[in-house]
Amino acid sequence: MIVAVDGPTASGKGTIARALAVHFGLPHLDTGLLYRAVGRQVMLDRGDPDNEADALAACQFPDALLADPELRTEVSGGLASRVSIHPRVRQALYERQRKFATQPGGAVLDGRDIGTVIAPEAEVKLFVVASVEKRAERRYAELIQAGRDVSLEAIAADLAARDERDTNRKDAPLVAAVDAITLDTSEIGRDEAVAQAIAIVERRMRS
Ligand code: DC
Repeated sequence: MIVAVDGPTASGKGTIARALAVHFGLPHLDTGLLYRAVGRQVMLDRGDPDNEADALAACQFPDALLADPELRTEVSGGLASRVSIHPRVRQALYERQRKFATQPGGAVLDGRDIGTVIAPEAEVKLFVVASVEKRAERRYAELIQAGRDVSLEAIAADLAARDERDTNRKDAPLVAAVDAITLDTSEIGRDEAVAQAIAIVERRMRS
């Protein structure tokens, strides 16, 4: 069984995907991390994330980079959003994601284009959304707890810019697959969101 979990930044899709993977005993891939690694590698190479050739070269990042805590920062998220615009970068990362999705026994993948491009045949497709205000509040709380000096307004502006870029890019934009089920986490907590996601997958498995 392939479970595709797509949605915008800080919607809760990563938390939901990880919980589904544990619950159903499936391997999980956070595909955003691959784009974050490309963005980080461009910076390490002193390249330009908006230049397709530089970003393509950075797709050869070493696997060890995926464990770099720097990838979890807002800066890396912004860089990931910029390099992910380039069609050749998306192509370069396609095979790795496709192989993970089609491994025997199934998998859970979260990202932006899992249900539309990487695994259109996925048995379950979730599209996780939440209002920009709620997403900004959650990200703000996380960063403050991590001891970062950030402002709520700056985070909301950054999220809105990333939504705009991810949604309006020509290649594989952030969009719900026609057969995706939308899960809005604006007004519910983590446990409730996970419980609803599990119920959706179980319903799909029975049908
Ligand atoms: O999910 P995330 O915040 O880690 O993703 C960072 C960026 O990577 C996101 O702004 C767009 C890009 N991305 C993508 O284009 N396709 C994916 N499947 C996953 C992430």
